[in-house]
Amino acid sequence: MESRKSLQFLVLSICVTLVLVVTWVHLPSSPNKVFLDCTLSSAWCSSKNRIQSSTKPNNLIKKPQQSSSTTQHQQHDSDVPHHPLDPLTVQEFNKIHAILAAHPFFESVSKYTLNTVSLEEPDKELVIKWKRGDPLPARKASVTAMVKGKSHFLTVDLNTDEVSIDEKSSVVSGYPTMAMEEMVGVLDVPLKSIEFNRTISQRGVNMGDLACLPISSGWYDLPVEENRRLIKVQCYSKKDTVNFYMKPIEGLTVLVDMDKKEVVSISDNGRDIPIANGINTDYRYSVQKLNGDFRLFNPISLEQPKGPSFTVEDGHLVKWANWEFHLKADARAGIIISQVKVRDPETSELRSVMYKGFTSELFVPYMDPTDAWYFKTYMDAGEYGFGLQAMPLDPLNDCPRNAYYMDGVFAAADGTPYLQPNMICVFESYAGDIAWRHSECPITDLQVTEVRPKVNLVVRMAAAVANYDYIIDWEFQTDGLIRAKVGLSGILMVKGTTYDHMNQVPSQEYLYGTLLSENIIGVIHDHFITYYLDLDVDGSDNSFMKVNIKKQETLPGESPRKSYLKAVKNVAKTEKDAQIKLKLYDPSEFHMINPSKKTRVGNPVGYKVVPSGTAASLLDPEDPPQKRAAFTNNQIWVTPYNKSEQWAGGLFVYQSEGDDTLQVWSNRDRPIENKDIVLWYTLGFHHIPCQEDYPIMPTVSSSFDLKPVNFFERNPVLKLPPNFKDDLPVCKAHDSS
Ligand SMILES: *[C@@H]1O[C@H](CO)[C@@H](O)[C@H](O)[C@H]1NC(C)=O
Ligand SMILES: *[C@@H]1O[C@H](CO)[C@@H](O)[C@H](O)[C@H]1NC(C)=O
Repeated sequence: MESRKSLQFLVLSICVTLVLVVTWVHLPSSPNKVFLDCTLSSAWCSSKNRIQSSTKPNNLIKKPQQSSSTTQHQQHDSDVPHHPLDPLTVQEFNKIHAILAAHPFFESVSKYTLNTVSLEEPDKELVIKWKRGDPLPARKASVTAMVKGKSHFLTVDLNTDEVSIDEKSSVVSGYPTMAMEEMVGVLDVPLKSIEFNRTISQRGVNMGDLACLPISSGWYDLPVEENRRLIKVQCYSKKDTVNFYMKPIEGLTVLVDMDKKEVVSISDNGRDIPIANGINTDYRYSVQKLNGDFRLFNPISLEQPKGPSFTVEDGHLVKWANWEFHLKADARAGIIISQVKVRDPETSELRSVMYKGFTSELFVPYMDPTDAWYFKTYMDAGEYGFGLQAMPLDPLNDCPRNAYYMDGVFAAADGTPYLQPNMICVFESYAGDIAWRHSECPITDLQVTEVRPKVNLVVRMAAAVANYDYIIDWEFQTDGLIRAKVGLSGILMVKGTTYDHMNQVPSQEYLYGTLLSENIIGVIHDHFITYYLDLDVDGSDNSFMKVNIKKQETLPGESPRKSYLKAVKNVAKTEKDAQIKLKLYDPSEFHMINPSKKTRVGNPVGYKVVPSGTAASLLDPEDPPQKRAAFTNNQIWVTPYNKSEQWAGGLFVYQSEGDDTLQVWSNRDRPIENKDIVLWYTLGFHHIPCQEDYPIMPTVSSSFDLKPVNFFERNPVLKLPPNFKDDLPVCKAHDSS
């Protein structure tokens, strides 16, 4: 999140190279070294990863700047949609490209950018009614485009070739998600400036060592921002390390007009700040192992003697254990999970839990108000495209053996499709955890020990938004729980400083962070990830119920006890009743219930959102970044379902003014009781960097759960069998030579 795509080419090639290198190092493709012998059967032990590979690369689909010959991937040329929610196919992208190129709106202008092209999902009722074998509802595409410096939102009907231009898009502020080519395209602009070149050489950096990032400039209601799309370019030196982020050219900021591709101004305030030496910042295994082998444990992997237990039908429909859902890649959201259903063990019926869930927006404000830092308040989904930044996953390290890999197919700025290979993985995870257990102690004379192992299904993506890596997991448990988990890793955005020891820092000087190494400060920042959760618990019409846990004091003489806790239920009538700030000393449970579906004993069926470790934004609500990211003002919101309210920061987030956020919609205070409603949850992190985060951060994770509450009649995994010794193989490695 934080900063950005540097020389796109550079970063991409690094990523691709890394993936290949690591794959080579770790794939069990050197059978002459180590064999696994299994007492159960040996065939499965040598089974390969289910990584999709094709025999020949496809020349039609090419990711910009990436040589397709270095990436193995599946052919997608002949993909056809099977489900109303299936993403646009290569053929459909090509058709949209042709329709738009010939349309008078685009034909008349010499230059335009298609910023996003994605499926416009059919109306929810149509999708819910649709059954396999039915004809698909009309296929349509939503397009955001920049034409003559203005934002546009269009819909293309693939059946009729009709294009409709939504005039409303000129009413809201902001610009569409940057196209990859736009992010890359601005990086050469500073080179047009003699002043920039002079500064770079004065700082002792060779032009050939320059690595620059396109940094979204936010919006601060300044005259310079009016009627133009701006971006800030900051640079690093990649001399002697791939970890150029640790060598900032501090204080140098080039303000660039993104559409005219010209320098607006240069601010150069760090001339006396040395560039950190970058020694020992290279994190690559190939470099680390030169200093000795640091293996702390023996090789470990998950063995599945009978193979994995999930299937992916027609490319997108995932079925595992008692779960079924539709899964797809999206350029803006990353992963979209739809029509999530769980099978009821009592009735065998597939019951609806969630119509759609995805990461709607991110907000990453840095806590340094000075010239070269104040604007760093990233909104990664709407500005950079969370899915666009999701790099290919690394088999055996990002996802275990037997994982299934799904590609993303996205549109380049001219509308032609390209491939984001192995962007999402699906796998079963067994971490030695327990699903439920009980053993009887000697107090009773019953000899009982019953334990069930916990196996989950994980859907994963890792977005590397320049320096930061976000690991996004959706974890499905057999007991009906869904865990949404975010892992943060990657590299800090650091600030150059003249100090190389804390004893040089005057006591009155505040560093805005932690001195991590000589001449480098890790700046304090927050991460917020806002989820769109269109829960449909046993049907679309639901209510949001706050179950407040309150202290009740007993009456004098009523009980030897002075106090106890009680659960006070309140159903939210309107949106403002459901604007929730979490409070440790005034706790509540948050239930999404279906008031018209009751259990045998009469409780309304429900799912609850269960927060865990999280953080709230403490910025002033009138601070421009906070106004733009007003969706982080509460941790929970509930809005009536509205097809055009899916992006928490608004349709156009880049340089937006905060006029189209979840806060604005929710303030309409519409009725939400017993209606089709959407729950929004924001997971937050405060990050005060520490030395362990240098030069690359060990993963920090947090999560929240969607947990059944009176949804099932009883424990839904009661009938789960335990592990039996004979079901599990024992594999032993031996040297084959
Ligand atoms: C700045 O340096 C680059 C790289 O050496 C060069 O291509 C460019 O022409 C220079 N710009 C100016 C204005 O001199
Ligand atoms: C749906 O959302 C759009 C965008 O916020 C808004 O203009 C419209 O009024 C909303 N419709 C309803 C019924 O709330």
